Amino acid sequence: MASRPRIVRTVKALRAAVAALRSGKRIIALVPTMGALHDGHISLIRLAHKHANRVIASIFVNPAQFAPNEDFGRYPRTWSADIAALGSEKTHLVFAPDIKEVYPEGFATQITPKGPALAGLEDRFRPHFFGGVATVVAKLLIQAMPDIAIFGEKDYQQLLVLRRLARDLDLPIKIIGGPIVRESDGLALSSRNTYLSPAEREVAPTLNRTLKDAAAAIVKGERITTVVAQGKTTLENAGFSVDYLEARNADTLAPLTSLREGPIRLLVAAKLGSTRLIDNLGVSLKSSGNK
Ligand code: PAJ
Repeated sequence: MASRPRIVRTVKALRAAVAALRSGKRIIALVPTMGALHDGHISLIRLAHKHANRVIASIFVNPAQFAPNEDFGRYPRTWSADIAALGSEKTHLVFAPDIKEVYPEGFATQITPKGPALAGLEDRFRPHFFGGVATVVAKLLIQAMPDIAIFGEKDYQQLLVLRRLARDLDLPIKIIGGPIVRESDGLALSSRNTYLSPAEREVAPTLNRTLKDAAAAIVKGERITTVVAQGKTTLENAGFSVDYLEARNADTLAPLTSLREGPIRLLVAAKLGSTRLIDNLGVSLKSSGNK
């Protein structure tokens, strides 16, 4: 049965609640979100239940990861539905701080991730983004001190940045990645899909289809540079404005030109009208990588 999860709004209340949840050496997982929850987020809550016996979700639309020209103001906020969904998934605690709790007067410290955060993918188009993400996630991890934190592969570069962050800051927290949840037509679920017009929504699955076709062509032995160039053309012809479509080493995000150089991840970001969509796909020799 669904029950309303407990909601805390201050770091002090969060710490007290986590201490209570932890009693008896329970394993605690944190799933950070910006709300507007969909089945992708819910899959992470379910994954959290597999790895932990107490699950915390955070909901905080983090202004620091939006540039002034981005969609912070109109980012979807669906509080009641989010709390109901988290209740149905037996979330034990929801941390929903307000902006002043996270960034009090005089706040002056920023984490500047390098390595995977400078891979020339999202960072090239959203230079403010990973600084904002790393700073807020470091705070959330330190505030809640879970044993495990779960992030989606949907934001693949973000996942690698946060793995590195936990390692580099010696946080005793295991970072776990969850697979991408998609609509039946392949479109990766995203809170921003609600921005798409009906016509754009029809075109949007081309993003994933292009990645699948590219993965299959690479597996067949076609040259990666050719495959990537063809993929970009397909997307442009469908009406996308492509920020990037690249084949990278799945572990390091280093550019690569052949499957022999390591596991490949295809990563794409493209705009349909004013909506920016991202997606990615693993390429493996065994299958066409349609994870
Ligand atoms: P948000 O976009 O709300 O996403 C929260 C988590 O859900 C992220 O780890 C994201 O990768 C995951 N997610 C989103 N769509 C998904 C999908 N279709 N399948 C699987 N997982 C999916 O990412 C953020 O928030 C923020 O940057 C955050 C980490 C909370 C820091 O502010």
